[in-house]
Amino acid sequence: MNILIAIFFLIFATFTSSTLIRRQDALNGFKECQGNFPNKITSHEFTPNPIVAGQVVTVHMKGIATVPIEKGSIYQNTVFYNNEQVLQHNDDFCKEVVIPSGFTCPVEGDFNFVNTFPADTSPNDPKNSVLEFFVRMLISNPDGRNLSCIEGNVKFSYP
Ligand SMILES: *[C@@H]1O[C@H](CO)[C@@H](O)[C@H](O)[C@H]1NC(C)=O
Repeated sequence: MNILIAIFFLIFATFTSSTLIRRQDALNGFKECQGNFPNKITSHEFTPNPIVAGQVVTVHMKGIATVPIEKGSIYQNTVFYNNEQVLQHNDDFCKEVVIPSGFTCPVEGDFNFVNTFPADTSPNDPKNSVLEFFVRMLISNPDGRNLSCIEGNVKFSYP
């Protein structure tokens, strides 16, 4: 009887902790970059996962703007493969992300953004494979101040 109760609690504890771990990883494998970034990203998710080359990607991002995100802020996505930079996009964060999400710049306090963009393709893309890249997403103000930065591995599928 005592053994049964012990087994029950063990299963219950294992279930509870694995559920908690899944809930805690709101950044889905991404981590904050090294450095000083005042505006914390509390949740980040993209679909589909793996991203499919040539198809639309939807990114959800939540966080807190302690420092206002100003008009003209830059959304920089840098893609690395085997530690080498292969791609960098610099976009207007307010125009591409904030306004389509129903917010306006300057953004202060809690934010919740959704944006969609087409995943890059090139004639040199591989066929029938999935490649893993390292992506760094950096948001900075027009005065050059870094606001938020997260990075992590992203899988791209090439049909
Ligand atoms: C902003 O953060 C990026 C990524 O960590 C870093 O390379 C860059 O030097 C930082 N810029 C400033 C002005 O701190």
